Amino acid sequence: MPAYRPPRINATEITPEAVFFNRRIFLAAAAGSLVATSSAGALAAPAALTYKAGAVTLDETPTPEKDATNYNNFYEFGTGKGDPAAYSGDFKPHPWTVKVDGLVARPKDFAIEDLVALPQEERVYRMRCVEAWSMVIPWVGFPLSALLDQVEPLGSAKYVAFETIVRPAEMPGQSGIFQPLPWPYVEGLRLDEARHPLTILATGVYGKTLPNQNGAPIRLVVPWKYGFKGIKSIVRISLTETQPPTTWNLSAAHEYGFFANVNPAVDHPRWSQATENRIGEGGFFGANRRDTLPFNGYADEVASLYAGMDLAKNF
Ligand code: MTE
Repeated sequence: MPAYRPPRINATEITPEAVFFNRRIFLAAAAGSLVATSSAGALAAPAALTYKAGAVTLDETPTPEKDATNYNNFYEFGTGKGDPAAYSGDFKPHPWTVKVDGLVARPKDFAIEDLVALPQEERVYRMRCVEAWSMVIPWVGFPLSALLDQVEPLGSAKYVAFETIVRPAEMPGQSGIFQPLPWPYVEGLRLDEARHPLTILATGVYGKTLPNQNGAPIRLVVPWKYGFKGIKSIVRISLTETQPPTTWNLSAAHEYGFFANVNPAVDHPRWSQATENRIGEGGFFGANRRDTLPFNGYADEVASLYAGMDLAKNF
C-alpha cells in the first residue's frame, strides 16, 4: 500500500452531511427499524435492505458518505483511492452465492438473498486503515457468528479463511498488464476472532445496500483490526485447521502480519502508527491528527483474545 496521502476534501462541504446523518440516526433509533432502497447503481437490484438500529454505536461524528464511498481501497478496480468508485460500475453483485465449506458439519452455498434476510442491524464503527487514516462508518450487517452457527464448525476448525471473487471482465484491476496483487484477494481470522460479537458481515452502509466500491454485495468488518482485514465481495468462507494465507502478508510479510490488530505501539516499517488522520474532518498536513487507540478503541471488548501473546511479534 502506498504511504499516506492527505485527501482532497473541502471542509465547507461537510457540515450539512453530518447534520443530516445524525438526524437520520436519531430517526432510526426512534422508529426501531428502517427500510431503505438500494442506490448501489442500476446493475444492483437486491431486495430492499431492512435493518434495526444496532446496539453498538459511537459518540463520534460519522464520516460523510461521499468520502466513505469515494476514498477506497479495492485493488480489483485499481490502486488509486478514487478508482473503486470510478471503475466499479460494470461489476454485477447479483446474482451472488457465498460458499461456506471446509471443517464444518453442514457446508452450504448461501444465496445473497438468504444472507440479507438474516436479522440485520446498523453498527457505527470506528475504522482505522494501516495507511494511518480513519473513518467512522455506519455499517448494516449481521454477526459472522450467525452464519458460522448455521454450518456448525467441527472441533478441529481453528481459523476462518475468506476469498474475494475473481472476475477480470468486470474488475479492471484484475485484467490490466500491471497486476498489483495476486488474486483472489484472501484474508483470515482465528475462529475466536471470527466469532467475536463485534465481527460482522456487512451488506449495507449509510442505510443503503453496499455500493460496489465498498465491497458489494457482502464484505467483512472487524473494527479492531486494520482495514485491510475487511475483505470485500466475498464468495467463499472456509473453516480450516491451519492459519490461512492473507493477501497483504503474501505480498509483504514484514509489513503486514496475520493479526493486524490496530496497535499504536507497533509502527509500520515505513511510517508511524501512533496517530491517524480522520477523513472528512478537513484540515491538512496534520491539523486533524488524533492519537490512535490500542485495538482501535475496542480494547475492553477484544484485548482478552490476545492475552499472553507478544503483540509486537504477532502484528
Ligand atoms: N478487499 C478486496 N477484495 N480487495 C482490496 O483491495 N482492500 C482492503 C480492504 N478489503 C481490499 C479489500 C483495504 S487495504 C482496506 S483499507 C479496506 O478494504 C478499505 O475498505 P473501504 O474502501 O470500504 O474503506
